[in-house]
Amino acid sequence: MTPPTVLILAAGQGTRMRSAMPKVLHELCGRPMVLWPVHAALEAGAGKVVVVDSPAKALEAILPEGVGLVVQPESNGTGGAVLAASAQIDPQAAVVILSGDVPLVSAQAITELVAAHIAAGTPATMATTILADPSGYGRVVRDGAGNVQRVVETKKAGDATSEELQIDEVNTGIYVFNGEALLATLPHLSADNAQAELYLPQVLDLLRAEGQAVAAHKVNDPGLVLGINDRVALAEVTALAQRAIHERHMRAGVTIVDPAATAIDVEVEIGQDTTIEPFTTIKGATKIGAGCTIRHAYIIESTIEDGVSVGPFAYLRPGTHLQQGSKIGTFVEVKNSDIGRGAKVPHLSYIGDADVGEQSNLGAGTITANYDGKSKHRTTIGKRVRGGVDTALVAPVTVGDDAWTAAGSTITEDIPPGALGVARARQRNVEDYADRPRGPLDSEER
Ligand code: UD1
Ligand code: MG
Repeated sequence: MTPPTVLILAAGQGTRMRSAMPKVLHELCGRPMVLWPVHAALEAGAGKVVVVDSPAKALEAILPEGVGLVVQPESNGTGGAVLAASAQIDPQAAVVILSGDVPLVSAQAITELVAAHIAAGTPATMATTILADPSGYGRVVRDGAGNVQRVVETKKAGDATSEELQIDEVNTGIYVFNGEALLATLPHLSADNAQAELYLPQVLDLLRAEGQAVAAHKVNDPGLVLGINDRVALAEVTALAQRAIHERHMRAGVTIVDPAATAIDVEVEIGQDTTIEPFTTIKGATKIGAGCTIRHAYIIESTIEDGVSVGPFAYLRPGTHLQQGSKIGTFVEVKNSDIGRGAKVPHLSYIGDADVGEQSNLGAGTITANYDGKSKHRTTIGKRVRGGVDTALVAPVTVGDDAWTAAGSTITEDIPPGALGVARARQRNVEDYADRPRGPLDSEER
């Protein structure tokens, strides 16, 4: 059998988000909303995945390779979106319709729906679910035989009667159609409804009018099929996505001390026996090894090897690479830098565009002056370097292996291996100063 084509509807305006950005580009756990169903479709083994976008093509830049894009010329409803993708529909294959704003649908849910569709032998199967609060969703009216009679919309008053508003079974916006039946029906959709749009669920009415049955496939976990129309739902669905991410890591051997106080993006990888303490955020494609301790840290696009200690109050920005057994301590910011095996930056430092060799230990208040106002420059610190507190390293600059810096130094010239770099004014003490009469400063004091 030809694997199904998956169409993902994502061309709507998303007015209820009240955003300058298209709704489906809003992120859940670091992944734009629309890419969640795209990933699920690919994982479910779709023959072809096509996203329906609006004419601005805002989604084009983020779609993974091999995922197609078609444009819906005007925002005239979910039916219009599928109509715009007609050329992508293979009459011989099943077509799965997903919604760009129903992100948590899983590959397994898609596979089960397709199996139910095949078992039902109907031209259309709709995924439904029961919701405690079904407001805003299309409600499913069933016929005496338990098949779908029709869907009534409730977004805008005028489509549903008050009895229909009592129905708690909703259309999830996810369907499977036989390509041929869908293609034959789409041209007959009308905009004769409260929103004056082409409603995709009207396809079901039209099929029934021809005497065909429409099957319903009830999804037991409503969390998989919640739609996001506003930012309240975005937060609710994000919380579900986050919980699933946490559970995946915990089951794989990661301790997350307080999941409610920990944010971990979907692409993050974490090794076994790593402990994530509360108030930690880990973003982007960050990789963390095994046996690490991460305390109260904010980490973006970084690579952390095994046995590393981070935080509390650490900020790791993109391009940070912490090698095995290294330590980034309290109030330390690192960016685009490589910290060698066993090296330590324990307190109050900024390390940007730097390479720090293995076993080096940089004193409190070490700052790389990596930016001269025009361009960024690198700082190279060798192995086993001992940095004094309050060392400023004015890049480009190199500190050799086994070298030292004196506390309070502003290092502008390379330090050879094994040398001590001292770059500060000598101290001078003014004797008996406390005993002097107070008055304007004399020349000695100025
Ligand atoms: C839709 C369903 C409703 C269902 C709900 C589930 C219709 C008419 N209603 O309502 O029965 O309960 O989803 O979440 O289908 N889109 C386009 N082009 C358009 C309009 C929408 O591509 O012209 C896309 C949107 O980007 C979105 C999806 O279709 O990803 C659903 O659109 P939305 O306006 O959110 O429909 P709902 O009101 O949620
Ligand atoms: Mg919606």
